[in-house]
Parts: sequence; structure tokens; C-alpha cells
Amino acid sequence: MTHLPGLLDTEAIRKDFPLLDRVVHDGKKIVYLDSAATSQKPRQVLDALNEYYERHNANVHRGVYTVAEEATALYEGARDKVAAFINAPSRDEVIFTKNASESLNLVANMLGWADEPYRVDHETEIVITEMEHHSNIVPWQLLAQRTGAKLKWFGLTEDGRLDLSDIDEIITEKTKIVSFTLVSNLLGTVNPVDAIVRRAQEVGALLCIDASQAAPHMPLDVQALQADFVAFTGHKMCGPTGIGVLWGRQELLEDLPPFLGGGEMIETVSMHSSTYAPAPHKFEAGTPPIAQAVGIGAAVDYLSAIGMDKIAAHEHAITEYAVKRLLEVPDLRIIGPTTAEDRGAAISFTLGDIHPHDVGQVLDEQGIAVRVGHHCARPVCLRYGIPATTRASFYLYSTPAEVDALVDGLEHVRNFFG
Ligand code: ALA
Repeated sequence: MTHLPGLLDTEAIRKDFPLLDRVVHDGKKIVYLDSAATSQKPRQVLDALNEYYERHNANVHRGVYTVAEEATALYEGARDKVAAFINAPSRDEVIFTKNASESLNLVANMLGWADEPYRVDHETEIVITEMEHHSNIVPWQLLAQRTGAKLKWFGLTEDGRLDLSDIDEIITEKTKIVSFTLVSNLLGTVNPVDAIVRRAQEVGALLCIDASQAAPHMPLDVQALQADFVAFTGHKMCGPTGIGVLWGRQELLEDLPPFLGGGEMIETVSMHSSTYAPAPHKFEAGTPPIAQAVGIGAAVDYLSAIGMDKIAAHEHAITEYAVKRLLEVPDLRIIGPTTAEDRGAAISFTLGDIHPHDVGQVLDEQGIAVRVGHHCARPVCLRYGIPATTRASFYLYSTPAEVDALVDGLEHVRNFFG
């Protein structure tokens, strides 16, 4: 058994995750290496969901009866937990959405409907990067098409990092919003926030950070990031699907218009016009994802009890080991940084000219679950001249033995395809 400094007690942690005991394909225990797509869920989160539905299920903010008040307290309690988890100055800055895509679309649409000084028009520039997930590209393309704004982006270096050499030409006085990912879901790159924050502040642009691949893996402090908006999702951080978060600075949430209209986001409604509830409710039209919010609250409790700094150290050790071992595989090319520095635990690679779908299928026959394809970040594949990659991604329950299983599995793939 390989021992690495900084590892968590995975033997104990893995007992919390029932799915990791699954047997697939001829009695082989699953080797789950797809946590960047979605994490597995600990018993504590599953129990919280069950308990909510069995004992407290009612709609929130509406009923005056006991169970409805319990449901409201649980839903709003989850908001408190998330606010503390990301060091938000106020719980009212935490908006629940259905996923990170919805959070990012919400920002684009708040701005799309905004008046001065936030108004986006044909004189406005929007800045993103070439390593974004489609959910941080398409909403801005839609906004640019609707308003005539110009979409610009940072390109990538050969080793999978942001090319900031022309930062002053990319972010200009015309830039109203800069939106970028903290950690790339395909390359694994952890991006340098400071340089971008500095330049965005210099020109007075708003800063939106996609933290989908960061929030599950490292301490996240929205105040330290100095961003205006931070988006992430619950299902990648041990929570259920169907719950995302948008954190936004209070004064922006007060100023900016809502996107979705409906129940519970209003103050008053007449047949002629409406006024809106204060944030966060202004941005949470309709019955919200109540059980899912309870679930993300339980996930935050679970992760916090272990400690995000310890989780980050564990993943760093696993990633360092995985990069080293993967580079020993003949014909394997890592797409992204080849050191563990400033790198997250998602590692994409190609294996000779074997198509990633074939790699994924032969690995699956050995019980190894990886993601193959363009990972909803197709421009990255285009940049590096490849149709797709195989991606292995690790989390707090991943072990060096699973890295070894992957490397053995890839050897099998190479033999299989001659
Ligand atoms: N965004 C998720 C991934 O990278 C689904 O796999």
C-alpha cells in the first residue's frame, strides 16, 4: 500500500459513501474516478434528505403550521451554512439556484436587463477565457448576441494555463464583466486570481468566478477572492443534484433586476406592476429546491467537519502521485499542467491514438469509472487539436491504490488495442 504525506484516513471516510462499495463487472469493486462530473454522497447527506422528506416536508415561506415552519427553518438554515462555508459577509448574499449553470445564467441575465451603470450594450466588452466550461461561455454569447456587446477571451499557453500576457488589451475601459473559472474542469489548472482582480478593478469591471471545481476541493473565501459573483453547485461537493449557489455582493443584488418572475420573489403584485422582495428572495422565484438545499447544508457540515484545508492537502498528494504515475504510461499525454502546483485533482489525458471513448469502455470493463469526451469545454480540445480526452478526477475518498488501478487499467487498454 502506498503511503503519501497529507492523506486523509480514507478507510474511515469511504465507509460513509455507500456507492463506493458497489460491485460492477464480474465482481470488480468500482474505482470511481469521476468526481469532477459529480461526487459521491456520504450517508450523512442521504440521511438528511431522507429525514427531511419523512419528517419535515412542506413548502417554505408560506405555511403557518409546525411542519411548514420546520421546513422553512431547515431551508434558511442551509443558507446560513453555505454563507459560513464561503465566508460570505451576509446570508442574504446567498442565492439558491438549481446548478452552477443557472447561477451563471442568472448573472448574465441580471446584467442583460440592467440599467446604467450596469447596462450592457454594443459599446460593452465581456471577458471570459478559453478554458471555460460551456456554462460560462454560452450565457455570455447569448448576452452578447442580444445586446451587441463584444465577447473577448484569454487564450491558453501550451502547458494549459491562462495566457495573461496581453491582459491590458483584453480587459479594457470598455469591459463591464470578467467571468472566469477558478479551476478548469478539463485541464485541472488553478487560475491566478490576483492579476485578473487587479486589472478588473482598475477598469471598474465586475468579476464573476465559476467556483464549481473549487468549492468542493479547497477553502473558498468570497471576501478574499474580491469577486462580485461566485457560482458553484452542490452535487460536486457531496450534496444532491438540483441545487446550485450564486453568491453576489449585497449592493449589486439590491441594484440588479430579477431574472425569473413568480411566487415568493415579490413584495406586492397588481395587474399593472409588481415590486420585488429583497435579495436573496428576489432571485428565487417559485418553490425552491428545498430538500436539495437541506442536502447541500448537510454536505457543507460533512466537508467542514473534515476540514477543507485537509481535503485540499489530500487531493494535492493524490494528484501529485497520479501525475507522476500517469507520466510513466507510454504514449500518455496529459492535457494541462504536468505538476501538482496550482493544479486541481482533475487530470485529462490522451493515450496514443486510442479514442478516449474506447479507453473509457475498456477501463469500465475493469470497474474503473472515468469521464471521456470534451467535458463541456470543447474550445479547450480545439485549442490543443484533440477531439476529446479521458479524464480521471479525484476527491477526498480517492486512494493511491485507485491511482495504481487506473495505471494498470491503462496498460490493459494499450495491450487490448495492440
Ligand atoms: N461539469 C461537469 C464535468 O466537468 C459535468 O464533468
